[in-house]
Amino acid sequence: MKSSCSKSSYYYFWFWLINMLLLHLAVRSQLTTDFYNSSCPSLLKIVRREVKKALMNEMRMGGSLLRLHFHDCFVNGCDGSILLDGGDDVEKSALPNLNSVRGFDVIDTIKSSVESACNGVVSCADIVAIAARDSVLLVIIFNSLYYP
Ligand code: HEM
Repeated sequence: MKSSCSKSSYYYFWFWLINMLLLHLAVRSQLTTDFYNSSCPSLLKIVRREVKKALMNEMRMGGSLLRLHFHDCFVNGCDGSILLDGGDDVEKSALPNLNSVRGFDVIDTIKSSVESACNGVVSCADIVAIAARDSVLLVIIFNSLYYP
């Protein structure tokens, strides 16, 4: 009995590992960090600058932008849909988000700056994702400076 259990765990482990590898390859082929390198070379600098400004104004915004990205990923994936306005039927008005998810104004500011630099190139979903990434990085850096 014991050996059959460990044998099935063994098969389960390999099944899981192979699936994870396949998933990794599939996702890797779609996502790149240099996607906007030629179409909007200043994108990453703009997002970093604006997130930095927002954090200098209010450090909590780091967590809020990370949470905004997390909540954007509900309902059909991380597609920027949480940013849409439109009454009671939009994600923004859903119970977990209403009067709770923050950072929309920061994303609006970043989007305006990005649009001025490269009009109609960068998706809102990507801006939310990059802002969340930079928030985490900058909060870690700020914290290590203040509490070394
Ligand atoms: C499904 C599991 C989760 C539940 C039920 C949950 C629930 C909550 C709740 C109730 C709040 C307080 C909201 C408010 O005060 O209005 C909160 C805040 C927060 N959550 Fe979660 N959370 C979950 C997962 C996560 C994950 C995975 C992350 C990180 C990616 C995260 C990051 C945060 C952050 C940073 C805040 C503070 C946001 C702010 O101060 O603006 N949470 N969460």
